[in-house]
Amino acid sequence: MNYILSIDQGTTGTRSCLIDAETFTLIGQASKEYPQIYPKPSWVEHNLNDIWATVESTAKEVLKNNNVQAHQIKAIGITNQRETTCAFDKKGTPLANAIVWQDRRTSDFCQELKGKNLSEKIKEKTGLPIDPYFSATKMNWLLKNNSAVANAAKDGTLLFGTIDTFLLFKLTGHVSHKTDASNASRTMLMNLKTCDWDAELLDVFGVKKEFLPSIEDSFGNFGVTKGLSFLPDGIPVTGILGDQQSALFGQAGFHKGEMKCTYGTGAFVLLNTGDDLIYSKSGLLTTVEYRHKGKAVYALEGSSYIAGAAVQWLRDNLKIIKKSSEVEPLAREVHNFEELKHIQFFPFFAGIGSPYWNAEAKGAITGLTRDSGRAHIAFACLEGVAMAINDLLMAMKKDTGLSIKTLKVDGGAAANTLLMELQATISETTIVRPKVIETTAFGAAMAAAIGAGLTDFEKLSTTWKKDREFPIDSNLEGYIKDKRELWNKTISKMF
Ligand code: G3P
Repeated sequence: MNYILSIDQGTTGTRSCLIDAETFTLIGQASKEYPQIYPKPSWVEHNLNDIWATVESTAKEVLKNNNVQAHQIKAIGITNQRETTCAFDKKGTPLANAIVWQDRRTSDFCQELKGKNLSEKIKEKTGLPIDPYFSATKMNWLLKNNSAVANAAKDGTLLFGTIDTFLLFKLTGHVSHKTDASNASRTMLMNLKTCDWDAELLDVFGVKKEFLPSIEDSFGNFGVTKGLSFLPDGIPVTGILGDQQSALFGQAGFHKGEMKCTYGTGAFVLLNTGDDLIYSKSGLLTTVEYRHKGKAVYALEGSSYIAGAAVQWLRDNLKIIKKSSEVEPLAREVHNFEELKHIQFFPFFAGIGSPYWNAEAKGAITGLTRDSGRAHIAFACLEGVAMAINDLLMAMKKDTGLSIKTLKVDGGAAANTLLMELQATISETTIVRPKVIETTAFGAAMAAAIGAGLTDFEKLSTTWKKDREFPIDSNLEGYIKDKRELWNKTISKMF
């Protein structure tokens, strides 16, 4: 038997999956969370050594638990939290903590850039609004504020990258300093038309091209494993995709018109627009889904920073649940919608991304009364997450004129049935959940299989299987209609 090892390096944890290279069935998986570092309010960092340790341990564990010998792995796929910015030296030693995509420390610099009237130019070149979310301002911050990074820049040993680049560099024994076009499209340094680093933008952000990885197709030979304790030398890494692009790919979203919503730490709606570069008028992003044989396939994206993370906040900060899975039974304890009528949960802990782009926005719970309790907050949390996603879908409709009759979903929180029922009713669309909701890891395995020449797009499109559909819930409909109006009214006052 031959296998593909798919490494899904996400914001809160790392998952290693073994996928049968013939049948594309998931054989086993191992995952591990790692610490989030919050040095100051609205700063978020990851220790790259922690991240690498979770890659090693989960890969070892999944091989061991499934009795798979390392030589049976024919290819490796990497998918990753995007935008998170890594600085390391030529020996793979981290020079700083990674600055996570949710980190807002560069919002003043973003204001400065907007003041210089760079918004239109940057959007035209990169498809992105000026926001701390993307890697470019984070690289600029590291160069200005971290002496190890600044010194390495001077002595020619600095390497920048997104998480895929760091992992690839480590996996290949410090040989391959590369990324793929889907990840590069999130840096705000890549020109969408050429899929190459843009000289003018490098200048704006003070980043030299020699610090950056080369931009490659998403499928192909990125290099081979070397000098690792947990894998033999010579296994090729043949697929790399940013995690949201990978989720769309894993939902068999290869062609124009395919769309999905992933419920991870944040929630991300992506629509494949083929070779059309659609520039949003409604606050969405233009991005690369994948690049194959030198040709980019583009996507329109709505990014909501907080989804599963709101439930983690209930667990870790409010401590009203012990496990994330407890949120659904707790929320279902509310039977009288009258009690929820005024309660609103705005999950804007990390500012607002699409469609309003407000880096300074904060989270809020409003409309509480004396009888409000844990269950009401749990319900409002799920509802707020679904409302924020609905704003992305509305923007998608506005930009494309599409009527969204069905929406494919995936990611950990897609297992939450109440959340899916709320989403269907709020968005007046049928939610379609596949059998495999870990489509992010699946997408990277598919990418690796294509890159290794083990399969083709046609064969892969038959691997997608439906689990369940969630239609609009008539019990919720009247209540939701009023709450949607209240949400829209409140949001329009805020922005
Ligand atoms: O753009 C950020 C995104 O890639 C993070 O994904 O799954 O870690 O929430 P996730």
